[in-house]
Amino acid sequence: MKKIIANIKMNQTPIQSRDYLINMISRFDNSKNVELTLCLPYTSLSIGRLLLDDTGIKLGAQNLSEEECGSYTGEISGGMLKCAGVDTVIVGHSERRVKFKENNKQINKKIKVALKNGLGVILCVGESLAEKNTLKTLETLKTQIEEALKGLYENELERVTISYEPIWAIGSGKNATVREIEYGVKAIRKVIEDDFSLKAAKEICVLYGGSVNNKNIHAITHAKGVNGALIGGASLEEGGFSNLISLV
Ligand code: 13P
Repeated sequence: MKKIIANIKMNQTPIQSRDYLINMISRFDNSKNVELTLCLPYTSLSIGRLLLDDTGIKLGAQNLSEEECGSYTGEISGGMLKCAGVDTVIVGHSERRVKFKENNKQINKKIKVALKNGLGVILCVGESLAEKNTLKTLETLKTQIEEALKGLYENELERVTISYEPIWAIGSGKNATVREIEYGVKAIRKVIEDDFSLKAAKEICVLYGGSVNNKNIHAITHAKGVNGALIGGASLEEGGFSNLISLV
């Protein structure tokens, strides 16, 4: 079973999401060995919950607050997402790390709040181009994972998926090669082995994200150690996206 996650980012009004979802549902082949989650914008979650019910497609969100509740104007809590029917939430996407200055400590709190509220988590990690060029990929991945998962119990990793998303590959049209992906994914599993156990390292779900398209999806999702893909741009076009899923 491969996991495919769509990150719709800040696209789609609720009406656009409705049309997108109707199209996706009619094209999604449940019998294929794919678990599909659509991470919609907050304002599209209610239409997502309504339309995805009983379809086998899961509802996801793209972020949550590290706080439980209270005076945090404009924030959305884990409890709110759970009540909105969300199954899984993305945490630590590089766009949040870079553009909104989210740090590993906050990401760690977000993961704990998400798990406490019964949500699954997709933790995004990945190096910048400068880190890649100075051979700091492993160091970056290790720090991001260790700090994000600090204080978690091993059994909680069942609800955590890690997505390897090199920042330079996101939205650039320049995906990492299978070799680079396998190198990153192996490093991620090694950190899990060192911090938790070999069993946890083998069992944790690891995805790749960054310029995944219909030409590279098959090779990427079949790379060693890769359990699926997190897809941005290519998930926006419903026809193209269902076609892409069929190529997994
Ligand atoms: P692209 O697929 O557009 O490169 O985006 C990847 C991403 O950010 C997934 O979270």
